[in-house]
Amino acid sequence: MDGTDETTQRAGMPRWPDGVPTLTVAELEADPHGTFRTWRRQWPVVGHEVAGCVVLRAGDVDRLMRDPRVQATETLYPEMRGIPVGRLFDIFAHGMLTANGAVHRRRRSPFTRTFAARMIEGLRPRIRAAAESLVRDWLPDREVDLVARYTALIPAQTIADILGLPHDDIPLFTRLAYEVSRVLSFTFEPEDIPGLEAAASALQDYVVTGLELRRAAPRDDFLTRFLAEAEAAGDLTAEEVVVQLVQMIIGGTDTTRVAGAMQAALLLQHPEQWAAVRCEPGLIPAAVAESLRYEPSVGSAGRVAREAIDLDGIVIPAGSMIMLSTLSALRDEAAFRDADTFDIRRADLPRLQPIFGGGAHRCIGEALARIELEEGLGALMRLAPGLRLTGAMPVLHGHACIRRIGPLQVAA
Ligand code: HEM
Repeated sequence: MDGTDETTQRAGMPRWPDGVPTLTVAELEADPHGTFRTWRRQWPVVGHEVAGCVVLRAGDVDRLMRDPRVQATETLYPEMRGIPVGRLFDIFAHGMLTANGAVHRRRRSPFTRTFAARMIEGLRPRIRAAAESLVRDWLPDREVDLVARYTALIPAQTIADILGLPHDDIPLFTRLAYEVSRVLSFTFEPEDIPGLEAAASALQDYVVTGLELRRAAPRDDFLTRFLAEAEAAGDLTAEEVVVQLVQMIIGGTDTTRVAGAMQAALLLQHPEQWAAVRCEPGLIPAAVAESLRYEPSVGSAGRVAREAIDLDGIVIPAGSMIMLSTLSALRDEAAFRDADTFDIRRADLPRLQPIFGGGAHRCIGEALARIELEEGLGALMRLAPGLRLTGAMPVLHGHACIRRIGPLQVAA
């Protein structure tokens, strides 16, 4: 709990009415679902020791994603976390994720056509073939870590193909992307900042080199077209070009790697549901959707309140940082029957699942992620139907932004 003058005076920290609790990162990391469940029943919004406040209920999260009084954070978050300049800071200063209004539209629009559902659907046969080839690679081994050998590689190969990056670079750019995404986790300490900064710098240098190569030798690929369009329109700065590509690499790899691992693990933990999907492949999209609901790989979206916002009598003051907790919303008993039960046959999933956010910032890679997850699961069902867990269920660490996962040991 807080409420001291010193704390409430910090930027982004609301001054709460008496009794509203402030959650610590430690308790949320230890048991995110349990902690949110306890408080969601009593309060629509509670304090968060780093993020200002957390909105807990499904209806409020959905509404505030589209509420003009609630905006992207621009550079507020890195400034609050002691990162006021540098190349890590640049990702917030020049990226679409943290931008608002016309600036956001300008940064996002070069990608909207390429990532539109219809265009992305054309990649399905290639993603299916890649997933099957990966399964055939590890199938002869007795036991494998499915994350390293499979679920990380499907999105990494796909984003490499879309952006025209060499497959040999996958270990490099994925390592840097996973490292940089930790900046959003709330668990890094001031002493971690130099390492995060070095990773952000290396990832941006990697993209700059790729762009220089494309300028020197254009090809028939996304990167060449993006570069030509961005330069012809002249409305993206050189830094913006680099940072949008960095955000694509981060968004396109880490999120789906974690989701792919978790959906396999959840189905293996519920063998009757694994068997149902194996017998009836038409259940694959529902299995993907329910896995994303039950253990989302992205736990929240960060925002700032431009005006005071009243949620059932609790007022979030203007200027507060707000965490819209999709993790909490997706287990809200008011929105989902038996919310803590994993059930691929549930009928109450909304068409626009909050896992991919909402409003202007709704995930640009949603269609791609769904295809990768569906095809990844389909290839497992067809080629490794007897797959089983050989170790414990993987633990998803983190309660905000991109969550982190350990190994997933399986045998075919
Ligand atoms: C299971 C996989 C994924 C999940 C759960 C996910 C989730 C999200 C969420 C919740 C947001 C909104 C964040 C906010 O409002 O602050 C978002 C935005 C974004 N995502 Fe994803 N994502 C996934 C896959 C992908 C993929 C495959 C890509 C790229 C190909 C991608 C690229 C992006 C980008 C660039 C944004 C920023 C959009 C904007 O600000 O306009 N994501 N994602």
